[in-house]
Amino acid sequence: MSTHTDPPGRTGVFRTKGIEQSIRDTEEPEHALSRSLSALDLTVFGVGVIIGTGIFVLTGAVAKQNAGPATAIAFAVAGVVCALAALCYAEFASTVPVAGSAYTFAFASLGELPAWIIGWDLVLEFALGTAVVAVGWSGYVRSLLDNVGWQLPDALSGTNHTFGFAFDLLAFLLVLVLTGVLVLGMKLSARVTTVVVAIKVGVVLLVIVAGAFFIKVSNYSPFIPPAVKTEGASGLQEPLIQVLFGYAPTNFGVLGIFTAASVVFFAFIGFDVVATAAEETKLPQRDMPRGILGSLVICTTLYVAVSIVVTGMQHYSELSIDAPLADAFKATGHPWYAGVISFGAAVGLTTVCMILLLGQTRVFFAMSRDGLLPRFFSRVHPRYRTPYRATVLLGVVIAIIAGFTSIEELATLVNIGTLFAFVVVAIGVVILRRTRPDLPRAFRTPLVPWLPIASVAASVWLMLNLPTETWLRFGIWMVLGVLVYFWYGRRHSRLDPHQIASADSPSDEVR
Ligand code: ALA
Repeated sequence: MSTHTDPPGRTGVFRTKGIEQSIRDTEEPEHALSRSLSALDLTVFGVGVIIGTGIFVLTGAVAKQNAGPATAIAFAVAGVVCALAALCYAEFASTVPVAGSAYTFAFASLGELPAWIIGWDLVLEFALGTAVVAVGWSGYVRSLLDNVGWQLPDALSGTNHTFGFAFDLLAFLLVLVLTGVLVLGMKLSARVTTVVVAIKVGVVLLVIVAGAFFIKVSNYSPFIPPAVKTEGASGLQEPLIQVLFGYAPTNFGVLGIFTAASVVFFAFIGFDVVATAAEETKLPQRDMPRGILGSLVICTTLYVAVSIVVTGMQHYSELSIDAPLADAFKATGHPWYAGVISFGAAVGLTTVCMILLLGQTRVFFAMSRDGLLPRFFSRVHPRYRTPYRATVLLGVVIAIIAGFTSIEELATLVNIGTLFAFVVVAIGVVILRRTRPDLPRAFRTPLVPWLPIASVAASVWLMLNLPTETWLRFGIWMVLGVLVYFWYGRRHSRLDPHQIASADSPSDEVR
C-alpha cells in the first residue's frame, strides 16, 4: 500500500508529514484505533489524569518551602500558563486529529527532527510522570495499610537512604496491572476512569467543603511570606533565572510564588494528554477543544480552592510534605476525614497513572507508525484494537523505573519536558496558519500570533524558574534523543526516500 500521495513539502530533517497523510495513516486497518470517545469522555479523561500527585502531595511542600498561603496564586499562575497552551493545543488537536499529541502536531508543521525531539521529550513527560505518580500512589497505599496495622518490609517500600537500595514493589505492580488494562482496550479503561474520577473529585470537594469549617483566618497572615535567604543552597538547586541574574537564593516573597508555580505546574499535566486521544474521538473537531478546556477549567478552580482551604486549616510552616491534605484534617482533630481522603487519593492516583501510561503508548505508537521507531510496535491487536506491543514494552520499562526511583527530582524533569512541548505546539500553531491556511479548523486559537507568543513566553518563564540541575538533565536527555534520531529514525522514517521507494514496490507490504 502506498502511503505518501501528498509529497512532503520539505526535505532532510525538516521534511514534514502532510496533514492529509497523517489522517490517512489512521485509516489503515492494521494501524487504526477505534473511534469511541465523546466530549464528556474526554473531560472525564482529562480530569482523571490532571488531578493527582500535584494537588494531593506537592501542595504541602510548596506551601511550606516556597509560597505559604500564596500557593493559591501559584496554582492560578500555572493555570494561566496551561490555559494559554490549551488554546494552542485545541486548535492543533482539532486540525490534526491523529494520535500522538504534540509529536503529531510538530510533524505536520515544523518537520521531522523537531517532531522527533518533541516525541522524545514527551517520553520524559509521560513515562517519568507515570513513574512519579505510581510512587506517590504507593506511598498513600502504604499509609492506608499502616492504618490497619500491615507493613511492607522496608526493602520493598521504595528508595531508602539507609539501605541505599530498595524496591518499590507496589509502584512496580501498579504499572504492570495498568498495562494489562490498557492492552484490553480503551472502552474498559474509559469506564474504569469514570468511576474513579467520581471518587477523586468527591474527595477533593470534601477537602474544600469540610475543610472550610476549620479555617483559622490568622493562618493567612502573611499571605505572601517575606523573602528569606536560603543558606547553603548550591547553584545547581537554584532556579536557573536566579543563577542567570545573579540573585542571592531566596525562598518565599514574590519570586517564591513563581518557583512554586513551576513546581505545582505538575498538577496540571495531563490536559495535553487529552489531545493524544484525538484519533479515538468520535467528533474530534468539536469534542477535542471542549474536552481540553473543560477539564482545565474544572481543575484550576478546584486547586485554587483546595490550597486556600488547606493553608487556612494549618499554618503553612506546619503542613506535612507526604500527605498534606489528609494531615491537615488530622491536625484539626478529624482523623476519620483523613482516612477517607487518603483512600480517595490512592484511588485517584490510579487513573492518573493509567492515563499518563496511555498517553505514552499513543505517542510511541505514532512515532513507530512513522518509522522513527521500529514499525513492529505500531501493529494494533487484532481483537482489542490497541497498540499492545508498544503498551507492553513501555509498561514493563516504566514499572522498573517506578520500582527504583524517587519522586522529587523526576517531577521537575517532567515539568521542564512538558513546558518545552507547550513551546513547540504554540510555535506550530503560528507556522501551520501560514503554511496551511486552507485546512479546516473547527477550533481556532484566538489572537494569533499574539496568544501563541504569550504562551511561549509564559512557558519559558516557568521553565526558567526550575532548578539549574533540572535544565542540565533535560539537556542531556535531549542530546541523547538527537543522537538516536540520526542513528535510527532518520534512515527508517517513512519520509525517507529509500523507504518511500520500497513502499511503492508491489512486493512490499506495510508492516
Ligand atoms: N497532574 C497529574 C498529577 O498531579 C500528573 O499527578
